[in-house]
Amino acid sequence: MEIRHRPVMPEEVLALAAVQNGDLVVDGTTGEGGHSELFLERAQGCHLVCLDADLAIQAKARARLAPFGDRVKFVHGWFDEVFAGWGTGERPQVVLLDLGISVYHYEESGRGFSFRGEEPLDMRLDPSAGESAADAVNSWSEEELARVIWTCGEESFSRKIARRLVEVRKGERIETAKQLADRIWEAVPPAARYGRLHPATKTFQALRIAVNGELDRLERVLDAAFRVLAPGGRFCVITFHSLEDRAVKTFFRDKAKACICGPEIARCRCGGKAMAEDLTRHPLTAQEAEVELNPPSRSAKLRAVRKLRERREDE
Ligand SMILES: C[S@@+](CC[C@H](N)C(=O)[O-])C[C@H]1O[C@@H](n2cnc3c(N)ncnc32)[C@H](O)[C@@H]1O
Repeated sequence: MEIRHRPVMPEEVLALAAVQNGDLVVDGTTGEGGHSELFLERAQGCHLVCLDADLAIQAKARARLAPFGDRVKFVHGWFDEVFAGWGTGERPQVVLLDLGISVYHYEESGRGFSFRGEEPLDMRLDPSAGESAADAVNSWSEEELARVIWTCGEESFSRKIARRLVEVRKGERIETAKQLADRIWEAVPPAARYGRLHPATKTFQALRIAVNGELDRLERVLDAAFRVLAPGGRFCVITFHSLEDRAVKTFFRDKAKACICGPEIARCRCGGKAMAEDLTRHPLTAQEAEVELNPPSRSAKLRAVRKLRERREDE
């Protein structure tokens, strides 16, 4: 089994998570298990619950982490749903979310995440349910495609690309990643075809985010995971684009505010106590040496909070 993905900011994650022997760690985005393995090695008395929505990559993590025996339990599912349904079980002292997809998805999954491959255009992390990226590009309206490509990809040629896709699909169904990449290449002005980024990069990111409901899931998991986290526990999140980072920054900043009463409340009722301590007022980013070794780490931002207390019934 080949491990393709290097865990991002390993030392920074370990320092912020500060895992102790006896702790339960939930790795909400286990992937090939890079960060999980670091936790297991660093704190030899900790145990992990390892989540992933993708069964195929989870099989790789199972094999990699097998030497740690019953210190690791695997759960297949979407992180927002797993945390929302946590119930009264043991609560974690550490939650890690390392968002997005893994190098495995681009290089090995065969599901069309990369615009370079002649692969079926699927892009679902859980291919057993929901619409594939091919379903989306072949059936969504031009307005919907343009909106998604703009909002989830921040692609300035979103309208041109959406128009071209709708035009092309009158004559052929777009079935592969290569077909889609070629159509996008044709849609953008010639000057935009030879830049630092392939012109399909942002549209591919947008479709992946939309097909997997990534932004909605992130909004939901922040709240659900924070509730499940034990008081005193640490919540670390690694993001890879500004839309994700904005959501995490806002959520953590609100939790670290002393008073959370709205402007309509004349006198503080919440007791003016913050729910969390912000451990990273500015996000951590990968050092130059890491970026050189692991280029995907270039856009990573790591933020973390420590939970101070539970929400009261009346808050
Ligand atoms: C960036 S990779 C994690 C890499 C991992 N930390 C490592 O060191 O190997 C993100 C992983 O999270 C999974 N994932 C993404 N969104 C998810 C979600 N909403 N629920 C569960 N798993 C998710 C992906 O399938 C992928 O395997």
